[in-house]
Amino acid sequence: MTKNKFYVSTPIYYVNDAPHIGHAYTTILADVLSRFHRALGDDVFFLTGLDEHGQKVQQAAQARGLTPQAHCDDLAPRFSNLWTTLEISNDDFIRTTEVRHTRIVQDILQKVYDKGDIYQKEYEGLYSVAEERFITEKEAESGAFREVKSIKEKNYFFKMGKYQQRLIDYIESHPGLIQPEHRKNEMLGFLRQPLGDLCISRPKSRLAWGIEIPFDRDYVTYVWFDALINYISAIGYGSDEAKFSRWWPGVHLIGKDILTTHSIYWTTMLFALELPLPETIFAHGWWLMGESKMSKSLGNVVRPLDLIEQHGVDAVRYYLMAEMVLGNDANFTPENFIKRYNSDLANDFGNLLNRVSGLIGKYFDGIVPPAHDLSEADQAIMSQGAALYGKVRALLLDYKVDAAINEIMNLIRAVNKYMEMQAPWKLAKTDLVAAGRVLYVATEALRLSAALLRAVMPEKAARVLQILGAEDAGLSWGGLRAGTKLEAHSPLFPRIEVDKK
Ligand code: MSP
Repeated sequence: MTKNKFYVSTPIYYVNDAPHIGHAYTTILADVLSRFHRALGDDVFFLTGLDEHGQKVQQAAQARGLTPQAHCDDLAPRFSNLWTTLEISNDDFIRTTEVRHTRIVQDILQKVYDKGDIYQKEYEGLYSVAEERFITEKEAESGAFREVKSIKEKNYFFKMGKYQQRLIDYIESHPGLIQPEHRKNEMLGFLRQPLGDLCISRPKSRLAWGIEIPFDRDYVTYVWFDALINYISAIGYGSDEAKFSRWWPGVHLIGKDILTTHSIYWTTMLFALELPLPETIFAHGWWLMGESKMSKSLGNVVRPLDLIEQHGVDAVRYYLMAEMVLGNDANFTPENFIKRYNSDLANDFGNLLNRVSGLIGKYFDGIVPPAHDLSEADQAIMSQGAALYGKVRALLLDYKVDAAINEIMNLIRAVNKYMEMQAPWKLAKTDLVAAGRVLYVATEALRLSAALLRAVMPEKAARVLQILGAEDAGLSWGGLRAGTKLEAHSPLFPRIEVDKK
């Protein structure tokens, strides 16, 4: 039987940016989906990386008195180290200054040029230095663009407009391409206007830090045309056809601000290359602070490392995945973080572990008791537990990560209630067998929850399974074995006490 494959990418982040919670979010999301697909037995290729060309990099390097390459080499580890800290299980980390990428970008430019889809013309227009692209009069009037100047120069253009109708037809016949649905509609709306051609070069006299255009050495490649190609250069396009056909097409996870570049520029580039379009382009919302977007200039950027230091990696991963309804914006506040940590992780999940292991320790010498002749209440938990995997699977395959987590937490909460009702600590005094049965059912539900939370909290969930002696007990009900000795442990999620001062 051939295995299913799952190829997932994050955007490649600007090497100049200090990594923040927005970057961490997409990367953790890709990691959770990757880990889940691996648990399903699928073959997974998870790609992330860095976008290293363009004006801002050139300027920042100059300011530091470094060559742009030395500047990039110096900054790149800020991202790769963060991914290690965040337990990101990526299979590759591509940097657009690597030869394996630059060579392919040049091959592609030549190919598209030879095909007649790239031409040169003189162009006069308004250019936003901050955005590194030409903008329309209307965009300039909106005031949303900084450092706008009028520029007249010869450039190379990609015949994007030529593919407009084909793209509209494709989007309409492939509703899964752009998700969530409101983003698809936004793009179809955008495509109601005539689609112009895309300027894909910059004269070296203005910007030298880029990939040289192979058919005109006075120019470098526009940074987006270069960057988008990472999704295929990393998996062997033009260098390893077997690898490429193994993985392409895949799923691109992106933020909503880069939807147009992905669903219009990238798709039409793929049309020109006669390659299949991505399976899915999924745009998530923004993390906001209060009502505003996080940004360096506002000075409200949340640094993931600060949170990790205080509360641990898995708590941060859990919060980001549980709090954001995928596709919508979410509000980040430290208060929110603490509230969710205390309620979900300390009170519900952590507390259930403490309770069952404490009671099994006290009444059964730490050995998991057997469960026979289940009562109605036991059976209710058992059926909820047995159905959990199917529900979580369906939700995750539909990119509803927050809902999947909530489903797991619903089981945990139901088990905590069940424990209150059954009170095995009281039962133990009159009917030890019944108390054992309740503790088995509760512990097994906890085990299943932990097994499914592994994708979200790799370290803590694995620790729970280790404590329960059930690392490889599967995803169906009954994996926990009676007779297993539980490991002693300290609380996994100590409550965060808020200093009222
Ligand atoms: N280099 C381009 C992407 C090229 S992909 C071929 C780029 N880089 S970026 O570093 O600026 O941003 C990368 C991602 O971070 C985007 O998907 C963006 O949406 C995301 N985020 C930046 N700030 C964010 C929040 N405050 N919240 C959530 N994600 C946000 O764009």
